[in-house]
Amino acid sequence: MHLQLDAILLVILLFSSLFNDNITFGFSLFGVIRVRRSNKISIRFIPEITLEDASHSPRDESYRKWAKDYNHQKSILMRMPQMEEGAVTFEIDGAFYNPKMKLNREICVAMAAALDLGEYLDALSASGIRGMRVAREAGVRRVTLNDVSPRAHELIMKNLGRNGLECEATCRNANALMHERRFQAVDLDPFGSPSPFLAAASRSALSYLFVTATDTAPLCGAHLNSGIRKYLARPLRTDYHREMGARILLGLSARELARLDKGMEPLLTHVTDHYVRVYLRVRKGAKAADDCLSGMGYVEHCPSCGCFVTRKGPEPEGNCSHCQARTILAGPLWLGKIQAKETILTAMQRLDEGCRARRLLEICAAEEDVPMYYDHHSICERLNITPGRIDDVVQRLRDRGHRASRTHFCGLGIKTDAPLVQVEEASKARDP
Ligand SMILES: C[S@@+](CC[C@H](N)C(=O)[O-])C[C@H]1O[C@@H](n2cnc3c(N)ncnc32)[C@H](O)[C@@H]1O
Repeated sequence: MHLQLDAILLVILLFSSLFNDNITFGFSLFGVIRVRRSNKISIRFIPEITLEDASHSPRDESYRKWAKDYNHQKSILMRMPQMEEGAVTFEIDGAFYNPKMKLNREICVAMAAALDLGEYLDALSASGIRGMRVAREAGVRRVTLNDVSPRAHELIMKNLGRNGLECEATCRNANALMHERRFQAVDLDPFGSPSPFLAAASRSALSYLFVTATDTAPLCGAHLNSGIRKYLARPLRTDYHREMGARILLGLSARELARLDKGMEPLLTHVTDHYVRVYLRVRKGAKAADDCLSGMGYVEHCPSCGCFVTRKGPEPEGNCSHCQARTILAGPLWLGKIQAKETILTAMQRLDEGCRARRLLEICAAEEDVPMYYDHHSICERLNITPGRIDDVVQRLRDRGHRASRTHFCGLGIKTDAPLVQVEEASKARDP
């Protein structure tokens, strides 16, 4: 009986899909039948998972949880087959899509427009949302959307069609594609670490390289060995670990580019939510590479008082100049500039007044370009004093002739070229 009903339902769905480009769903007694029509008609069954599934024990708690999550996610997908972000509509249909990365994409579109890009490779596209937004909203004429997954590729083609965009869509291993072809701008937005793609991306990128890393634990020192393996550098978990992560990623990028006689200039660096994002201008030539490598170095950090100093070479670990405790060395990492104010201000003009992306860029453009920062509360805790207003401390440092600013890396961070003793003095001082 069930089979007969499903057969009838299937015939109805096949018939209706002939007049409908989108996916057609039908709920049968066995589960959900889905009919999709692109170039050819294919039929996929998405079964409801029941706890009586013979291959699992319904008493197994982890299976129950998995089945519940599966059914929940499926019900969400069923309810929103079409989504919107920026000026494009798209489907995700099982491909990866993280709505929390919207901010990252907003800034990417603003940067692509600010740099007046003519060509852009979204090397790891998933649904294609990033590349499509760059094409539509930043007006980049030649956009290539690539994903190794045939399912993602099919979805990208469909999403391009839905938006009337004439971008190129490729279904290649990104490393192979980037070793073979050159693009004015290459964007890496992988699961976790971009490290497996950086060598090929450095070869492919003619003028710009944009990179996201979501593996903040290895980058910022929480997973030391993994950080050393992936980034060929020693990270440290410090008060300024977010900037440490960004500079370690920048350091690896600089070295990958230098191997190919290329140099880089970071245009925008931000660490937001759970990821690090960098925008690099790529310069060709051995001199550019040499100049760039001169921006590399180390940070000597004191775990006792939080004092840090930058070092050009890997000097042996010594004693802290502030409290005499043993210091630890982090690096090699990028010590050069990480923000290009002019470019950031141009990108800002593309963003709505008061939106989060614009506010973030405002802080990035205003922050002093000196390595790392002190945490206002950590300093006050060590001094055993009640923290005053952070802006007052910044102003006092400026009044004493130092460069000082707040930072987007941390709401309690103070970026300054002043030594720790001066920051402590400024934190202790109270205005009359
Ligand atoms: C984090 S998702 C990309 C998200 C997308 N950039 C966005 O903004 O929504 C990573 C994608 O990379 C793809 N991928 C993983 N390894 C790949 C490889 N070697 N070559 C090409 N694509 C790959 C996966 O299929 C997945 O769709």
